[in-house]
Amino acid sequence: MSARVHGVLREGTPGSQVSVKGWLRTARHSKGLSFLDVSDGSCMNGLQVVAPPDLANYDDEIRHLTTGCAIHASGELVESPGKGQRVELRASEIEVIGTTGDDYALQKKRHSFEFLRTIAHLRPRTNTIGAVWRVRNVAARAIHDFFQERGFVWLHTPVLTAADAEGAGEMFELAGSEEFFGRTARLTVSGQLEAEIGALSHSQVYSFGPTFRAENSNTSRHLSEFWMVEPEMAFCDLEGDVDLAEAFLKSVIEVILAECADDMAFFNERIEKGVVETLEHIVASPFERMTYSEAVEILERSGHAFEFPVKWGIDLQSEHERYLTEEHVKRPVVLTDYPAAIKAFYMYANDDEKTVRAMDVLVPRIGEIIGGSQREHRADVLEARMTAHGLDLEAYWWYLELRRHGTVPHAGFGLGFERLVQFATGMANIRDVIPFPRVPGSLEF
Ligand code: 4AD
Ligand code: MG
Repeated sequence: MSARVHGVLREGTPGSQVSVKGWLRTARHSKGLSFLDVSDGSCMNGLQVVAPPDLANYDDEIRHLTTGCAIHASGELVESPGKGQRVELRASEIEVIGTTGDDYALQKKRHSFEFLRTIAHLRPRTNTIGAVWRVRNVAARAIHDFFQERGFVWLHTPVLTAADAEGAGEMFELAGSEEFFGRTARLTVSGQLEAEIGALSHSQVYSFGPTFRAENSNTSRHLSEFWMVEPEMAFCDLEGDVDLAEAFLKSVIEVILAECADDMAFFNERIEKGVVETLEHIVASPFERMTYSEAVEILERSGHAFEFPVKWGIDLQSEHERYLTEEHVKRPVVLTDYPAAIKAFYMYANDDEKTVRAMDVLVPRIGEIIGGSQREHRADVLEARMTAHGLDLEAYWWYLELRRHGTVPHAGFGLGFERLVQFATGMANIRDVIPFPRVPGSLEF
């Protein structure tokens, strides 16, 4: 069995026999020796393999190896005289598993992220995208750990649905579904409505899976397919919901900082200077909380020239959200109690009859990272609200019926997983934090 590069670099003892498999990030051939930087995706750094000319296949094969070739190298681990690495592999045998040619797109020079998107089958071999995938992995596990440790049950909500969970009509339709299902099937925009079913039987559930939005937003923060984490809690109000969101974000970021130290050091140095400090600050300080109305007042009094003018009732734009979190409080802000008219049908109506118990968590650089609410659990109020929204009540019969059998106050939220990864890594464009981005006009890979 060959070892993973990560383990060898961390725990390999000089003098031991080691064998690794991977791809060459660089190959340097000097007179009589070859230096091969082998990466297998397990960590930021590669393992330096030194190949002496007495290897049987040195002249025929090793001397001609280039970036991108795949090899299996075996030999003795020795202390490295080179800077920045503890050990290196003195090869006694190298099997060339896969070769490449001049047309290999990932030569040594740096490539733009735009170009790398066109070679999504090769870009995970780069430092940056390689690190993003590892951070995604750790973040996903941290999310499951957070909820599992608190007794939440992971609920698998459907991708194919007949209901519009957001009532916003931004759904992809499935061709042929009428004949197949006897009704129009669409790709889900959120697992929330089903998560509410789960909360009203298992008290605390969460879903974590892909969701789809057919909105034509070509921005650095929107995808047509993205992953969402959606906890839902029974016997919970808006305040409990915000408390959970804050504890959750902090916990996941803490784990990323602790477990992805090398990758985060890379992002901090090469991608977004200061991102580690920003994250540490966020873990350490309480989130600011204010109502939508208070936020609008702050924006109006700011004297800042916004592209979209601010007045009570507007849907806040990214520029407004970023002003609040980046300029005004300089840490995450949770806005609550939004105007009913700009929010979805299922949110709990406040007594003022103008606002609903919604909450958005805003963070620097990203703006909205979490959106949630206390849900309307009063059958009559919900029905009136859905009618006012022009929804077909019959299509939501089960959702309404839940309000008639053991209904209780409940609340939840949705975290955009890619926005979290974008925030944590400092990556500028959301298309570079999901392995295979789907956006308007693009469905390759
Ligand atoms: O605010 P949203 O639309 O809320 C919901 O869907 C609720 N049903 C969630 C719930 O309460 N269970 O979406 C939640 C989050 C946003 O805050 C954002 O982070 C992310 O999902 N998001 C997107 N991420 C990438 N691309 C898009 N097009 C996104 N739309 C929303
Ligand atoms: Mg939202």
